[in-house]
Amino acid sequence: MSSILIINIGKLVQVREQTPSPLRSAQMDVLPVMDNAFLFVEKGKISAFGPMSELPQDFARSTNEVIDAAGRMVLPAFCDCHTHLVYAGSREIEFIDKIRGLSYQEIAARGGGILNSARLLHETSEEELFRQAMVRVEEVMHFGTGAIEIKSGYGLTTEDEIKMLRVVRRIAEESPLTVKATFMGAHAFPERFRDNHEGYVSEIINEMIPAVAAEGLAEYIDVFCEEGFFSKEQSDRILAAGRKFGLKASVHANQMSCSGGVEVGVKYDAASVSHLEYAGDAQFEVLEKSETIANLLPGATFFLDMEYPDARRMLQYDIPVALATNYNPGSCPCGDMKFMMALACMKMKMTPEEVINASTLNSAFAMGLGATHGSITIGKAASLIITKPIPSLEFIPYAFSTPLVENLILDGKIVI
Ligand code: NIG
Repeated sequence: MSSILIINIGKLVQVREQTPSPLRSAQMDVLPVMDNAFLFVEKGKISAFGPMSELPQDFARSTNEVIDAAGRMVLPAFCDCHTHLVYAGSREIEFIDKIRGLSYQEIAARGGGILNSARLLHETSEEELFRQAMVRVEEVMHFGTGAIEIKSGYGLTTEDEIKMLRVVRRIAEESPLTVKATFMGAHAFPERFRDNHEGYVSEIINEMIPAVAAEGLAEYIDVFCEEGFFSKEQSDRILAAGRKFGLKASVHANQMSCSGGVEVGVKYDAASVSHLEYAGDAQFEVLEKSETIANLLPGATFFLDMEYPDARRMLQYDIPVALATNYNPGSCPCGDMKFMMALACMKMKMTPEEVINASTLNSAFAMGLGATHGSITIGKAASLIITKPIPSLEFIPYAFSTPLVENLILDGKIVI
């Protein structure tokens, strides 16, 4: 495999000699940067970096490719640790319903929302689903995403959940992204179980989880623990069943109510609990005593026009905070990590340093990639953004719609 030498890097961002633990409270506001640096990539990994003044002569002689960054910045590719990127079609008709005043829950109660996407997905072939998803994969790579978590949850039958997860597997195999797969049969109650929620919970536990595990299609299991969706007790049983098959927990928690999602997530050592609009001191105390990452999805809060999670309060506690897009057709039809960073700064008063840490190192940890992604550390995957010319790091969340990525290098290959 070829090597790449990047020289004259104006700022090499997120430089860590050793990978630290997920960053908490004041640590999140510190973003280590090396000025005027070089970085050497071999066999898909970061093999050396340092100040230009210390660049070994033999690197330039032995490498196949030299990129002169000419003062531009290099940072780890973004890790988008929460998406529903595999879905069929789109739901802009519900967007109109929202403009006219219907809430997310009202649309769902009328058979729209997730059930609408499930109907569309059922009618869509696996091949077509893959084709549509790959358009989004291409899109998010242009935003600088290098690793992505993708959930099922628009199947809601064993067959269609498996269809979704096979598409996720194919994305992992055929795209340059690093992909983590999550089974989320517990995303909504399908129409056929409208009056028999327990029947669907049994189907998830007794049919879906064993089928997903038999094909090794997912590493994580997620549950939408929410009023009108899965109760805390149902979520508990589903996560317990997943654990028996080796599926690690993550939870959609406290998005629309104080649902108990945080507590059940922590009980199952969830890698992350996502959303947290309806979380306060009681939940933060629980999170602080755990290893679970608070994963904030400000794109959904924005699109659903809700109150934002209290990120500043979370950062007063010892809670690691991550950011993700939640790319999905209902609550956030957007896969742009930089826009999430901008929202986190503007609406949750996080600093540029905090949002970059939350979108690289902490989001890598939230998807089980902390040891291999999310920082400039020797031995980690060479998954890197070379920026366009930008004046400062703060410019990244500030210029929220200005394209950031000049080149994207994933596992040592230049993909953009
Ligand atoms: O995280 N809340 C549940 N799941 C998604 C929305 C999915 C949809 O509406 O299609 C979310 O916001």
